Amino acid sequence: MKFFLDTADLNEIESLIQTGFIDGITTNPSLIAKQGSSMQEIIKNICKMVHGPVSAEVTATDFSGMMKEGKYLASIAKNIAVKVPLTNNGLMACKELTSQGIMVNVTLCFSAGQAILAAKAGATFISPFIGRLDDLGEDGVKLIQDIVTIYNNYPNFKTQVLVASVRNIEHIIRTAKIGADIATLPPKIIKESYITTA
Ligand code: E4P
Repeated sequence: MKFFLDTADLNEIESLIQTGFIDGITTNPSLIAKQGSSMQEIIKNICKMVHGPVSAEVTATDFSGMMKEGKYLASIAKNIAVKVPLTNNGLMACKELTSQGIMVNVTLCFSAGQAILAAKAGATFISPFIGRLDDLGEDGVKLIQDIVTIYNNYPNFKTQVLVASVRNIEHIIRTAKIGADIATLPPKIIKESYITTA
């Protein structure tokens, strides 16, 4: 299982990258907003520090706006994965950006049906939000089980399952047992994980 770090905090990234456990980064507009610099500057700096995929999210909700932002974000560095929401426009943008050779992370996935659509749209990553499902009294890990089972049935689906909204170490262990490709972890969780398993 790969670990991505779910943060835009350059100090956290610099310190945790040294563990050798970090394979990529995910950001979102609220994580970027906490840092007090421009999106472009933060993303550019993260991409200099990390060789693996760095997710940067579009804020537009219409197709042409997503395409414009997505192409701009992808121009910042080769390892950018453009993050788009799981909406009709997001899926259309996913298909188009993918056809242009750009990595796409389809985010805000809450059902297996949505994950099938993302795979059909050629997503590089699908981000199911398991913690938020748990918050609603549902079983987020069960969604990962469903998606992994479905994707394994179709070898032409190349989309990697990126477990998001991770709240605890149990989430990592249970989704690793299922065979999820990646978990994106807030710095606090990766630190707890490191200390617990050391
Ligand atoms: C992933 O890419 C998201 O940024 C993140 O996992 C969201 O998690 P949250 O539910 O804690 O906001």
